[in-house]
Amino acid sequence: MTASSQSVEPFDLVIFGGTGDLAVRKLLPALFHRFLDGQIPASSRIVGIAREALDDNGYRAQLREALVGVCAAAQLDVFLQQVFYLPLDARKDEGWDDFAAFIGNQPDHIRVFYLSTSPELFVDICNRLGQYKLNEGASRVVLEKPIGRDLASANQINDAVGKVFSESQTFRIDHYLGKETVQNLLVLRFGNALFEPLWNSAHIDHVQITVAETLGVGHRGTYYDRAGALRDMVQNHMLQLLCMVAMEPPSSLAPDAVRDEKLKVLHSLKPIDDSNAAQLTVRGQYRAGVAEGASVPGYPEELGNNKSNTETFVALKAEIANWRWAGVPFYLRTGKRLPSRVSEIAVTFKPVPHSIFSADAGTLAQNRLVLRLQPDEGVKLWLTIKHPGPGGLRLRHVPLDMSFAEAFGVQQPDAYERLLLDVVRGNPTLFMRRDEVEAAWRWAGPILAAWTASGEAPRPYTAGSWGPSAAVALIERDGHTWNEDSE
Ligand code: BG6
Repeated sequence: MTASSQSVEPFDLVIFGGTGDLAVRKLLPALFHRFLDGQIPASSRIVGIAREALDDNGYRAQLREALVGVCAAAQLDVFLQQVFYLPLDARKDEGWDDFAAFIGNQPDHIRVFYLSTSPELFVDICNRLGQYKLNEGASRVVLEKPIGRDLASANQINDAVGKVFSESQTFRIDHYLGKETVQNLLVLRFGNALFEPLWNSAHIDHVQITVAETLGVGHRGTYYDRAGALRDMVQNHMLQLLCMVAMEPPSSLAPDAVRDEKLKVLHSLKPIDDSNAAQLTVRGQYRAGVAEGASVPGYPEELGNNKSNTETFVALKAEIANWRWAGVPFYLRTGKRLPSRVSEIAVTFKPVPHSIFSADAGTLAQNRLVLRLQPDEGVKLWLTIKHPGPGGLRLRHVPLDMSFAEAFGVQQPDAYERLLLDVVRGNPTLFMRRDEVEAAWRWAGPILAAWTASGEAPRPYTAGSWGPSAAVALIERDGHTWNEDSE
C-alpha cells in the first residue's frame, strides 16, 4: 500500500454486465490496481454477472487477457482468485437462489451491486435484489450512466430503484468526477487565496470546456446511435465539469454541501430551447477521414445505417444566470473522431483595463488558466512577461506549466479506482444525487426537443478535423477562439 492509500473494510463487489466493455476495460483493471496497492482485503470478493454460460475459470481467463501486461503474472493469479462469476439473467428466475446463497445473508457486510448494464435492466435487477433482501444493511447500488434518456425515463428509473435502495445507498457514477484534475479544481479554487477573488464575471471573460476524442463509436454503435453526444457526454460529464468550475464555495467537502452547490448551478443554467437552439448549439456527425494516421470510415458507414440523425459532436454556448456568472459565456464542445484526445477546462480572464506599453512591445494577451484532465494531467497558467535580455521591452505570453506526473513522479490513478473505493467506503461526495440528474435532464431535454423539432440533420465534419466550421463560428461571433493549446 502506498503511503497515501487507506485500507477499506472487506467487501463483496458484484458487477452486473461483468463481461461488458466497461467491466473488462475499466472496472476490473481499476480493482486490480487497487489490489496491487494492497487496498483490497484478501477476504473481499469480486463477482462478475452476465448471461453468458461461463464459470469462474472461464471468466478469469477472459480477464487475464485484458489484465495481462498490467503487472507480473504471479500477482494477477493471486488477484484472480478473488474474482468469481455467476451466469444470471435479470429477467429470468433461474440462478437467483444460487446467487443469493453465494452472497449470503450478512447485512453488515459491505455489498456493492454495480449495474454496468443497459438502464432498461436497472429496475429488474434492483427488484430481484430487493426480493432476496440483498438491499438491506450495508448494501449499495451503483448506477452507471446513462440514467434514462430524458427526464421522464430518468424519473421512472430513480423511482423504481428508490423503492429498493434508499438515496444514501444509491451511487450514480459520473467517472469524470473521479479524475485527478477535477479533484484538483476543488483544491485550486478553495485551497488558494489567489483565484477565488477573481472567480466571477468582473474578472473572467469566458470559460471553455473541451472533451475531444479520437476514437469513433466502434462497436458501441447500437447504444451510441440511440444516445448521441449530448446525452452521452454533455448531460453528465460536461455539466458536472461546468458545475465544479461555477459552483459557490461549499461550506465543507461533506457530500451534500458539495452537491447542494452543484445543484444551484444546474438550476441557474439559462434555458436553451427552440427559441435559441439554432444560435447557441451546433451538432455534427463525422464522415470518412484520417484519424491518428489511418483512414477511417464515417459514422453512417461504421453504423451500417446511412440515415442516422445522431450527433457525434456538440458545441454550445451556455450561460449561468446568477450574480457570479451573469454575462460570462461557458463554451462546451465534445466530439468523436477529433484530431487529438484532450479534455480540458480553459478559463480566460478579462484584459487589463489599460495598457501602459507601447504598440511595438507587442500585444497584451489575456491571462488564461488551463486545467488539463487528459492526456497529461496538469495546470497551465498563461501570463504576460517581459522577454528576457536587452532589445527593449517586448511582451511575451508564456505558460507556467505543471504536469502532475512530472512534478510528483506518480502515475495518476484511473478515475474508477477512486470512485469504486469511495462506494466501498460509503462516501457519495463524488456521485450524483437524484436531483442533480433531474436538473441536468431538465436543461438538456429542451435542447434535444429543439433539434428534433428543427428536423435538421447534424452538420457533417471530416474525421480528424475539429468538427463543423459552425463550431468555430459559434465562438468567433463573440470575438473568442477555441483554446489553441488543445488543438
Ligand atoms: C463515457 C462515454 O461515459 O465516457 C464514452 O459513454 C466516452 O462515449 C467516455 O468515450 C470518455 O471517457 P474518458 O475517461 O476516456 O474521457
